[in-house]
Amino acid sequence: MKPLKTNSDHIVAQAVGVGKTVQLASDTLDILQDISLKITAGRTVAISGASGSGKTTLLGLLAGLDQPTSGSLTLMGQTLNNLDEDQRAKLRRGRVGFVFQSFHLLPNLTAVENVALALEVIPESTAIVENSRQALSRVGLSERCGHLPSQMSGGEQQRVALARSMVVAPEILFADEPTGNLDHGTSSQIADLMFSLCKDNGSTLVLVTHNRELAARCDDQYHIEAGRLV
Ligand SMILES: Nc1ncnc2c1ncn2[C@@H]1O[C@H](COP(=O)(O)OP(=O)(O)O)[C@@H](O)[C@H]1O
Ligand SMILES: [Mg+2]
Repeated sequence: MKPLKTNSDHIVAQAVGVGKTVQLASDTLDILQDISLKITAGRTVAISGASGSGKTTLLGLLAGLDQPTSGSLTLMGQTLNNLDEDQRAKLRRGRVGFVFQSFHLLPNLTAVENVALALEVIPESTAIVENSRQALSRVGLSERCGHLPSQMSGGEQQRVALARSMVVAPEILFADEPTGNLDHGTSSQIADLMFSLCKDNGSTLVLVTHNRELAARCDDQYHIEAGRLV
């Protein structure tokens, strides 16, 4: 008898035979070839590989930021291939969070304003400011709400970025080398924080890293070499 489908084997993202080819001036470049994987709700998943192996491209496809040249992708039950950019953005809103190696904070906004951006509504609203302050407090930055990114260290900026990505309690957090610009000690603090925020929220984590130690902390691990899963 087939086991009952429980929440724990719910697939939140899936790639089937996914390829990505780009047209260069003189020829074509196969960035990804025949990628198939399933991401289960609530898991932590690492995608590791050398620089240039196609990790960022794969993450962008799984998150619906980019379209494949072959194969199919589903995200939170929706087939992405038939959705245009606006429809994909609508699907992601409030349900998908991102963290990047370079933090991607807006330089002229304070920490709390950067976090409030993720709530995509008027920053004046007290509820939004309050939620944003709470999110900053969860990453240990309550004292830094009014600081600009330039007044914070790399690790602090990444904590603001984490607060921004988690303030909406996303179903999935996609993180692209989130500790890549940080020293070893700061890097493990950020990783700890990211894992615990995902656990508390029940968010699935899809983490791209070339750091094997970090990849080893994840429930599921994929390794990519020259655009193929190995
Ligand atoms: N839009 C693009 N046009 C041409 N080449 C690209 C494009 N995007 C990525 N690449 C190339 O594809 C390869 C994989 O890139 P990327 O996914 O960024 O790798 P990683 O994140 O593993 O370092 C690299 O050689 C990169 O230069
Ligand atoms: Mg990359």
